[in-house]
Amino acid sequence: MTSNSQTPATFKPSGPLAGKISVPGDKSISHRALIFSALAVGKSQITGLLEGEDVLATADALRAMGVKIDKKGDAWTVYGVGVGGLMQPTNALDMGNSGTSTRLLMGLIASHGISATFTGDASLSKRPMGRVIEPLSQMGADIRARETSDHKACLPLSVTGTCPAVPLEYRLPVASAQVKSAILLAGLNTPGITRIIEPVLTRDHSETMLKGFGADITVETNAEGSRVISLTGEAELMPQKIKVPGDPSSAAFLAVAALIVPGSDIIIENVGINPTRAGLYEILQQMGGDISFENDRTVGGEPVADIHIKHSALTGIDVPANIAPSMIDEFPILFVAAAIANGTTKTRGLHELRVKESDRLSQMAKGLELLGVELTEKEDGLIIEGSGGKPLSGGRTKHAIETALDHRIAMSFAVAGLATKSGLTIGDIAPVQTSFPGFSDLLTRLAS
Ligand code: S3P
Repeated sequence: MTSNSQTPATFKPSGPLAGKISVPGDKSISHRALIFSALAVGKSQITGLLEGEDVLATADALRAMGVKIDKKGDAWTVYGVGVGGLMQPTNALDMGNSGTSTRLLMGLIASHGISATFTGDASLSKRPMGRVIEPLSQMGADIRARETSDHKACLPLSVTGTCPAVPLEYRLPVASAQVKSAILLAGLNTPGITRIIEPVLTRDHSETMLKGFGADITVETNAEGSRVISLTGEAELMPQKIKVPGDPSSAAFLAVAALIVPGSDIIIENVGINPTRAGLYEILQQMGGDISFENDRTVGGEPVADIHIKHSALTGIDVPANIAPSMIDEFPILFVAAAIANGTTKTRGLHELRVKESDRLSQMAKGLELLGVELTEKEDGLIIEGSGGKPLSGGRTKHAIETALDHRIAMSFAVAGLATKSGLTIGDIAPVQTSFPGFSDLLTRLAS
């Protein structure tokens, strides 16, 4: 779990980045691989699992609910207990920094006859849980959460599930794959059809994987163009062998590093390029980034490729709001690319960024301003004036850049450090352990 002590780290301009590397497994797919395997009847095997703190929090919570999970070499084995087979945990489930673990497991427990208390670190304890509490309560779960002074329902909270739960037809009011997946997980142990109407497409790993596990799930598009996902419970899931591809959200930091450091030429192998996740790469190409996808293939129903990136002079663009869901985790690093580009980059429609591991609009704006970047912070986006390739003034402040328990803020400023005159220091590198163990070493290896 994320520790309370801070570990500062300094990142300096480097020579060109070069080489072939791979990044750790996809975080979203790793959580789902563990959870669906836990619900299958029998033994599933997972390779390429992300061994970051967030995913380990999911594994520990499943163990606390009676699921045996072990690891030999690279392979994880999950001894599934079957849908409906989870046991009452004895202690509170510590979710650390992980919103995905919390929201998905709340859904899982909602339709089991057990109860659990969820706790988390200071960042997670500020994040809104009302978006999952509302649909799961409609299905019959009893959820008690701490209410904040601004009337948000937050951790710590307890979920008392109900069995059988009531199937729900729910139109997602926020574009959130976590909310969608929480409802699907609750639907697995609920007799009848649980239906989700998704007006804005979000990452679809849950739907793809549930089909692979043998669930009765259909995805259609209705007359108004919304996706309609229908899941028939109670489901029986069959154990699987899963290969988790590299995380496109982690690869994004190295891709932008290569784009902004002159002379760079790197290949990141085996990266998931599901269109519901790959928006950043499309936007970087539109900005003039030399990015190509090689050896395209499909692994476990997910599109995968090796991504080849060369240093490029980037040009600022207007980023359309409708691409946001397919790059929702990548805006912090896009803002770094925009700060080096030539001209103005405008982003909008990003209210959700204010309720991630930190308020990412405000944290990025504060940090970039310390580096001398000219920008305007709007309620739903940033407008950034790029330096036109000139190094940023990392030395403007004596203070370290605050990372606010947010891995993606830490990695974004680490990459920005490569494009400063003389380097910068971030206040705390520890949060990187939640999603990208080995990040700093990989960056150093590419530069040497
Ligand atoms: C995730 C969904 C996204 C994303 C998060 C992982 C998932 O969150 O930001 O990092 O695995 O379902 P939202 O559902 O809140 O958009």
